[in-house]
Amino acid sequence: MTTTMTTMTTTMTARATTTTRARTTTTTTTTTTRAAIGRRRAREPNARRRGDACVRYNTPAGVGRKADDPLGVFRLEYDISMDEAHRPKTWKPTVTVAVSGAAGQISNHLLFKIASGSVFGHDQPVVLRLLGSERSRQALEGVAMELEDCLFPLLREVDIGIDCRKVFAGADWALLIGAKPRGPGMERGDLLEMNGAIFVDQGKALNEVAKPTCKVIVVGNPCNTNALIALSHAPNLDPRNFHALTKLDENRAKCQLALKAGVFYETVSNVVIWGNHSTTQVPDFVNAKIDGKKATEVITDQDWLENDFTPAIQTRGGLLIKKWGRSSAASTAVSIADHIRNLVNPTPEGDWFSTAVLSNGNPYGIQDGIVYSFPCRSKGDGSYEIVPGLEVNDWLRERMKKSEEELTSEKGCVGHLVGEAHVDVPDAGCPVDLEDTLLPGEM
Ligand code: LMR
Repeated sequence: MTTTMTTMTTTMTARATTTTRARTTTTTTTTTTRAAIGRRRAREPNARRRGDACVRYNTPAGVGRKADDPLGVFRLEYDISMDEAHRPKTWKPTVTVAVSGAAGQISNHLLFKIASGSVFGHDQPVVLRLLGSERSRQALEGVAMELEDCLFPLLREVDIGIDCRKVFAGADWALLIGAKPRGPGMERGDLLEMNGAIFVDQGKALNEVAKPTCKVIVVGNPCNTNALIALSHAPNLDPRNFHALTKLDENRAKCQLALKAGVFYETVSNVVIWGNHSTTQVPDFVNAKIDGKKATEVITDQDWLENDFTPAIQTRGGLLIKKWGRSSAASTAVSIADHIRNLVNPTPEGDWFSTAVLSNGNPYGIQDGIVYSFPCRSKGDGSYEIVPGLEVNDWLRERMKKSEEELTSEKGCVGHLVGEAHVDVPDAGCPVDLEDTLLPGEM
């Protein structure tokens, strides 16, 4: 999801921007503005001091404001490179995190977690680079103001802008949260097409300006295929570093297994979501564990596992939309934070986590060239490997196949958008006989 504003459906106010996993767009028009959080005293007359931190706020007529700086409420008035000398020696080198859909609700939960240190670690300073849109610029400034007001020591700089080529510059991480909403009467293929175009542009922008080692997490729906589109346009980046978010589904599955078993969530492990972040996803109870035992030995009600648990997880996002009138936001943000933590910390021995990644060379016979959710583990260095050897019984295999077919169909719908891909693109064509996987209430 990127926060680029479309002129279409989204209702936004300056403070309450409705960004959901299906609900925002990114545009690449205007300029980037800086909101800066400093730890070094600024000496300008209209500098505002907070402890040892000062931020200069320029008025619209302020000195140094550029004509092409329409968001120029905030400007960095000190040399950020001096920052290194003034901070704890135990801190790691700063990482730059770009976030699209930054004025939306998911970001509003996520950004403050990142800035607090609870995601990348309490010794990890961060720069936040926030992508919004023309329509969200006021809200984006509000987000930057609130970040400043929190006095997070680890947050060294905030940049806001609506040009992804500026905002993604030098990014170590790109969290692509914004995506366009589905409008009334639109088919899934229409959504793929519209959002696909956004992820073509963002993939190209990442290719041009992000670090080649940048890790990209796609949240905007349809996130698996959006991730495929983005990576297809970013040959300078390692395609293995593109992810689509299925950790949210894993968390949902863990919670429901725990509730059924009458245990606390923490005792549930080894849960994987296979496939697409859609209603064809396969929440795997076969390999799941509760208190170290097979979940199927603790929950012996197979009918519940197959016919209640499974569809409940597959459709939980849609149910939430019905309840809330919008997509999940807080739980999505938490799961993005979990996803990042899964990559920057070593996975506990014997466990795994879910993430949708490029399927090339996977050990489960899923066709190459799609972004499919697998059980993965990490050494904590930002990379991952797919965990081989999980039991795939007939029940799982049949459903995993269905999700694979759905992803192949989605890819067929956007074949023209992955045409420059460095992955093989089968000639699937569009329209496809695509079972409608719209989540109830998604309209
Ligand atoms: C979710 O799973 O909560 C969302 O992806 C649903 C949606 O379509 O926004």
